[in-house]
Amino acid sequence: GLRHAAKVHTLALDLAATADPGARVLAALAELPAPSALLLPVGQSRVDDDGSLGAAATGQLLAINLHAPITIVQALLPALLEARGVVVGFGSVAAVRGRSRNMVYAAAKRGLQGFFESLRHRHSGQGLRVQFHRLGFLRSNLTHGMRLPLPAAEPAQVASQVVANLEKASFDRHAPRWWALVAFIIAHLPWFVFRRMDA
Ligand SMILES: NC(=O)c1ccc[n+]([C@@H]2O[C@H](COP(=O)([O-])OP(=O)(O)OC[C@H]3O[C@@H](n4cnc5c(N)ncnc54)[C@H](OP(=O)(O)O)[C@@H]3O)[C@@H](O)[C@H]2O)c1
Repeated sequence: GLRHAAKVHTLALDLAATADPGARVLAALAELPAPSALLLPVGQSRVDDDGSLGAAATGQLLAINLHAPITIVQALLPALLEARGVVVGFGSVAAVRGRSRNMVYAAAKRGLQGFFESLRHRHSGQGLRVQFHRLGFLRSNLTHGMRLPLPAAEPAQVASQVVANLEKASFDRHAPRWWALVAFIIAHLPWFVFRRMDA
């Protein structure tokens, strides 16, 4: 608001502790002009997500990474369709292949990718643009303090690409783009090689 003289409205919401985030967002938008764009760069991962989290922590990761984004899309979908607008989801290269870490996070991101593919299929030809960015490493809270095997992109740089693409047609692609090659290689590694990787 200060930098760009834009009107900014905020809503504080813990996605891990809200039964219906979509309804809460919709209620908060009630007095505002109908939305024509929805971007959902939400996500949380944990270092102890190794298959032993237990029900509560598993539920929280699924809520933040899968359930909340889906319910928010569903709640805003009628307005976005009416506006012939754009909905943007964010996946992760962690979902390319099941590894011995980030297990629930990766499962949730793969689920979200599936949901966005279905959304694109269901509404193709109706004017709604459905865009999904499969992100590589970013220099952000999520990777703070981690030793990463490949360079992390600056969030501002990726955000500029996301915004520059908003008027384009539907797609599902990697960002930064070179991660497509890394993902292709990981996806096609033979199991006896992949199972030895500590990535
Ligand atoms: N960093 C990476 O290397 C990487 C790699 C692949 C994909 N991604 C994806 O990129 C997107 C952006 O993440 P980022 O890297 O920019 O990390 P980030 O800075 O931690 O941003 C994550 C966002 O999710 C929100 N969030 C997390 N838990 C929440 C909760 N319980 N309730 C409400 N909001 C919550 C955070 O809100 P607050 O700011 O209020 O906490 C923040 O806005 C996410 O979808 C992430 O999964 C990141």
